[in-house]
Amino acid sequence: MGNKTLPLSAATLGYLQDQLSPEPNILTQLRAVTATQEGPHLQISPEQGRFMALLIKLMRPKLAIELGTYTGYSLLSMGLALQELAETGVKLHSCERHAPSAEIAQRFVTQAGLDDIVEITVGTATDFLTRFEEADTPVDLAFIDADIRGYPEYYARCLKLLRPGGLIILDNIFMNGEVTETDDKKEKIKALDKLNRDIVQDPTVTSAAIPIGDGVLLVFKN
Ligand SMILES: C[S@@+](CC[C@H](N)C(=O)[O-])C[C@H]1O[C@@H](n2cnc3c(N)ncnc32)[C@H](O)[C@@H]1O
Repeated sequence: MGNKTLPLSAATLGYLQDQLSPEPNILTQLRAVTATQEGPHLQISPEQGRFMALLIKLMRPKLAIELGTYTGYSLLSMGLALQELAETGVKLHSCERHAPSAEIAQRFVTQAGLDDIVEITVGTATDFLTRFEEADTPVDLAFIDADIRGYPEYYARCLKLLRPGGLIILDNIFMNGEVTETDDKKEKIKALDKLNRDIVQDPTVTSAAIPIGDGVLLVFKN
C-alpha cells in the first residue's frame, strides 16, 4: 500500500488541500488580484505555498533569494513564515523583470508589513545574482522560478552562492509533463531534463523531487 506514490485523483488532491495550515488572508487576497492579471497560472499553488512556508520554518534562513517574483505569492508565503519566526536581520530578496507584476508584489509586501524583511528588485535574474556574487555573502536558501531556459545557469550560480547545509528549491521540474516526452523535446526542456539528471548524479548535493504543483526539486548542499 505505502511503497509507491499514489497518482492524485481530484478527491485525493482535494483531501491534500484540506490538510494544509490555513492560507493567510492576505495570500487569498493576492490570488484574487492575480486572477485578474495576465498569466495567473504562473503563480505557485496554495499547497506549494504552505509547503514552502514550512521549509522556511525548518531552514530558518538568514538570507534567502528568489528568482521570479511575478505578483509575489511564493515571496509572501516565504516572507510571512520568516516574519512568524521573528528573528532579527533576516532578508529575503526577489527579482522580477516585468515591472507591473513587481509593483503588485510590492503593494502586498507593504500591506503584509514585510518591508523590513523583503526586497524586490526589478531586473534580470542574471544581474540580480551578480550582486550576491560580488557581496560574497553565503545564501541559505534559493528559490528558482524564472525562465526555464536560464535554469542551468541560475542553478550553477545559486549552488556556488549557497552555504553548505543550504537549500535550493527548483520549481516546474515537470514542465507540465513535457520533461518526460520521449521525442522531439524543445531545447529548453532537454536542458531542464539534463539539469535534473545531473543534480541526481552530483555527490555534493542531496536531492528529492516532490510531486506538488508542477514538480519541485529540493536540493540540499552537503
Ligand atoms: C513562474 S513566474 C513566478 C511565479 C512566482 N514565484 C509566484 O509564486 O507567483 C516566473 C516569473 O519570472 C519572471 N522572469 C522570467 N525570466 C526572468 C529573468 N530572466 N529575470 C527576472 N525575471 C524573470 C517572469 O516575468 C515571471 O513573472
